[in-house]
Amino acid sequence: MKTIPEYGLPYEEVLAQLEAYGAEDPDYKSAKTWSLVYYKDAEYTHFLSQAFEKYMSANGLNPTAFKSLKRFENDIVAFTAELLHAGENATGCVTSCGTESCMLAVKTYRDYARQTKHITHPEMIVSQTAHVAWFKGAEYFGVKLRVVPLDENYRIDLREVKKRINRNTIMILGSAPEYPHGIIDPIAELGALGKKHNIPVHVDCCVGGYLLPFMEQAGAQLPLFDFRAPGVTGMTADIHKYGFAAKGCSCILYADPAYFRAQCFVKHDWPGGVFASPALLGTRPGGAYAAAWAAIRANGRQGYIEMAKQTMENADRIRNGIREIPELELIGDPLCSLISYRSVDPVNCNIFAIGDQMQAKGWHIDRLQHPDALHAMITCAHTDVVDAYLADLREAVDAVRGHPELAFKGDAATYSVVGHLPLDRIVKKNVLEIFAKGYETGAGDIELSDGAAITGNEKLDGIVNKLILKDMEKPGLLRKSITAAKVSAVGVLSAGVAAIGAGIIKKGKKK
Ligand SMILES: Cc1ncc(COP(=O)(O)O)c(C=O)c1O
Repeated sequence: MKTIPEYGLPYEEVLAQLEAYGAEDPDYKSAKTWSLVYYKDAEYTHFLSQAFEKYMSANGLNPTAFKSLKRFENDIVAFTAELLHAGENATGCVTSCGTESCMLAVKTYRDYARQTKHITHPEMIVSQTAHVAWFKGAEYFGVKLRVVPLDENYRIDLREVKKRINRNTIMILGSAPEYPHGIIDPIAELGALGKKHNIPVHVDCCVGGYLLPFMEQAGAQLPLFDFRAPGVTGMTADIHKYGFAAKGCSCILYADPAYFRAQCFVKHDWPGGVFASPALLGTRPGGAYAAAWAAIRANGRQGYIEMAKQTMENADRIRNGIREIPELELIGDPLCSLISYRSVDPVNCNIFAIGDQMQAKGWHIDRLQHPDALHAMITCAHTDVVDAYLADLREAVDAVRGHPELAFKGDAATYSVVGHLPLDRIVKKNVLEIFAKGYETGAGDIELSDGAAITGNEKLDGIVNKLILKDMEKPGLLRKSITAAKVSAVGVLSAGVAAIGAGIIKKGKKK
């Protein structure tokens, strides 16, 4: 359907068309999806949709108009504050998603630092594994990123954090947990550092906010991850993730209301009226707030504890199952429900090719880079599919082992190439091109699985593929060689890669 029909169609017909559009979507209702979706069951979903519908047209833009929405917001903020031990002065608001919450935090700490310390060249310290929302926020709000490498446990490296603190630092970020590997950063230590240097420390608990507290209440031993850690000034937590709300609800909280003031926007003399807004959005979706409020009340503390227990049991089964597959290994020690795993022999048993096999079996699995890995975000809904997932994983490994060429077939090719060829500027430019084209009117589906189109390396396949396999064996080899050779101009980079690669391969053969 490319244009508006001249005359309106019957509702049934429109709904049938709507259904048909989803035919190729990830099969989340059968729990075959390991990211993006938090789906309990049909009855619960219907309940949430009823709550949503009741306030679907209500608008949280003006918090004095729809008092209902402000009450939902107050309750959601209060409940989240209690869960995360934000203290008596906790102040915050509801946002539309984790990304909005994270971006708001960047703006808040930037403006707070400008007001209180007159910082005009703001910098923020984040780890490599901070959610991409923080990188987006830094770009949108003009804050320089100081990106910290990981320590040997895949946590933000504290020694490296210390090195990056300076008079322009407006905030330090920790994640609980981070998205890629599900690792909880050392929040207590980050808080202490922040306190010592008088720098705000924010905890991105978007994915963990409605899981970690209930895991703890169910008896799990976790490191400090919330406001109980002295020095933590703010947190973000998504109700539309492990809170099992409808999409469109996250929360940002500060222990000190002074930060929240720096978040708010006020235009008192606008011809449209006195205007004040706590978040990025203008119109704020009443349905999402109502559904989140309904989710919290319908699940209750005990309901969430039970869900957390089930999630942990599923995560343990998956972790143990992966440990029993000798060709695979877990990355780090993920304590909650997000995990990642990689191949112990990336060349002969390529992890992205394993991902393709799993995809062919109907599983929807995210792929990671630096290091190459597959990802799973486990929920209480996965209970009945854990065994099937592990059996398919075993089969997938068997099908891929001994076939290095599979790294360059199917969707695996994209990640093999993008993750290992240091063609950053070219890849970024080509991804942008493909993406933007996908938004031109009349465009079809966006296809980012064509590695050659993304890197523009069609002609160099033979040698480049060998090179990529070398880099899989020894990650970073190519980047180092290129830096050493000082090949930097975009136009000659591909050729440079090939030339250096030929050298590396020749050297390897001589040994
Ligand atoms: C740690 C973390 N922060 C932020 C986000 C962004 O959340 P959203 O997708 O709701 O924008 C995510 C999403 O998975 C996340 O895992």
